[in-house]
Amino acid sequence: MFDFRHMLATFLAFFTRLFRRDTAPTSAADDVEARPKTGAATSETTAASSPTMAALEPAAPETVKMLSAAEVFDSVGPAYEDAFSGLPTQAAALDWLVQQLKENPATAQGGATIVDVGCGTGRPTCSVLADAGHSVTGIDISEAMLAAARTRVPNAKFELIDVRAFIERENHHPASLDAVTVFFSLIAGVTQDDIRAVLAGLTGLVKPGGYFVFSTVPVSINKGPIKWMGRSMEVSSLSPEEAVAAVKAAGLEVKYDAVTMFKPRAAEVGICEPDEVWEEPHLFVYAQKPMAAVVASA
Ligand SMILES: C[S@@+](CC[C@H](N)C(=O)[O-])C[C@H]1O[C@@H](n2cnc3c(N)ncnc32)[C@H](O)[C@@H]1O
Repeated sequence: MFDFRHMLATFLAFFTRLFRRDTAPTSAADDVEARPKTGAATSETTAASSPTMAALEPAAPETVKMLSAAEVFDSVGPAYEDAFSGLPTQAAALDWLVQQLKENPATAQGGATIVDVGCGTGRPTCSVLADAGHSVTGIDISEAMLAAARTRVPNAKFELIDVRAFIERENHHPASLDAVTVFFSLIAGVTQDDIRAVLAGLTGLVKPGGYFVFSTVPVSINKGPIKWMGRSMEVSSLSPEEAVAAVKAAGLEVKYDAVTMFKPRAAEVGICEPDEVWEEPHLFVYAQKPMAAVVASA
């Protein structure tokens, strides 16, 4: 079960780092929280780690130009992958998804149609899923990320498109996706309402019985100016409870959710200075779209 006192302490520690640039980062091992659901996900993702948004430092909006999400990720570029590579919680989420698809007779031999939203460099998500024999499309708004993805993952397809435009375009067709993955890509340049709308819109594209894996930095913030890895931008996100509720409200059945802590190696790989990155919370949610309800005839 959720340990609220531990979680409160975790987020207080995170917000202390958020607003105090000179605070030394704490140990990841001290800050792990997980909430497995009964009979659900196969993996225990309790190890501290996984990819995403690091140092959230308040920006000074009156003096600093706010970068768009595309500008931020174009400037971070493929080094993002090095800063977040080998993350056990993301690997566990992909293992879970690959396993679910294997257990489904329709996708057991591969061939599932999957969209990875905010694919970045295509690794690990598109790469792992395409190597498992599935038909994977990564979408992203960053040209620099997509250029790397096309080279690094030649067995997946990639498209430059905002997820909101993608949903707008695709929702006129019948639900055709076996799975959707969203790893840390609904934060920059969106509002909290956008996050909820995108979760619902993407769910509409998933076939009944299909899968949805969502991860984010679970901090309740709406269009907040921050500095992430030295870059000024506006971000939105949801608390763990809000995010899980949004996934359920989108029409998905939550199989597993867990919060862990991770400090990206952003300074080591040259993305920013050492004092511009610190430990951050990550939420992973594994979910499935229920099969269509069978309506009994009178
Ligand atoms: C934090 S990175 C995560 C990359 C990758 N999902 C991973 O876990 O390694 C977020 C990615 O989402 C992309 N992104 C941000 N907003 C987006 C949007 N509205 N539509 C599509 N992609 C977006 C960014 O360009 C970036 O490549």
